[in-house]
Amino acid sequence: MDPGPVTADGCAVDVYLLLPPGGEPGIVHAAAGPGASILELGCGTGRVTHPLLALGHDVVAVDDSAAMLAHVRGETVHARIGDLDLGREFDAVLLGSHLINTARDDDRHALLAAARRHLGPAGRLIVEWHPPEWFDAVRTGQGGRLGEVGVELADVVRDGDLLSARVRYSAGSRHWDQEFTCCRIDLDVVLTSADLIFDAWLSADRTWFAARARRRG
Ligand SMILES: C[S@@+](CC[C@H](N)C(=O)[O-])C[C@H]1O[C@@H](n2cnc3c(N)ncnc32)[C@H](O)[C@@H]1O
Repeated sequence: MDPGPVTADGCAVDVYLLLPPGGEPGIVHAAAGPGASILELGCGTGRVTHPLLALGHDVVAVDDSAAMLAHVRGETVHARIGDLDLGREFDAVLLGSHLINTARDDDRHALLAAARRHLGPAGRLIVEWHPPEWFDAVRTGQGGRLGEVGVELADVVRDGDLLSARVRYSAGSRHWDQEFTCCRIDLDVVLTSADLIFDAWLSADRTWFAARARRRG
């Protein structure tokens, strides 16, 4: 089966075109505030971008996949997040999709540094992550449905703070397999090292939180 275009981090564009926005835009909208300008890092096909635009936000959507960005309406930037330096500040920066749990410490640092340099003085960094307890709970065979897409985890392997697995997405007669490795992180350590400070939990299951820039001086 031809999976269609796939990003550098293994995401199939066709899967993200099928996935529904779910509750994410509502969480981001509530945290950012009405009319807030939003820099969205790793926007994919605009699954979350488009509802945020409809809610009245001015969104700049960033991704390093041209195939993903081809589907995004509004202002887009084709770039690696770590290299991003727009010379602009935003009311909110969105770092969703557990990108912060990358297994590479240098990538995580680059993601957070990019987020930090685009945050206005009162700006909020809005993050979706895998909390530590997720790493203990996750199991092979776990899954469910997101809209018309079936999702199932396989081959879960733990190695210290790292967890590797394969996720199978299926829709109709098509399926896509994506392997990933993610890292359990200590939030205070990670935020402090990026000159950020925890602000608030944004969801009851603590998979979303907000942070702010530490005051300098
Ligand atoms: C899991 S997808 C999620 C897309 C979107 N956030 C959503 O929830 O529908 C992750 C996206 O982030 C992009 N991405 C991952 N790491 C990136 C990086 N370092 N710089 C730019 N884009 C990145 C990928 O190309 C992909 O489109």
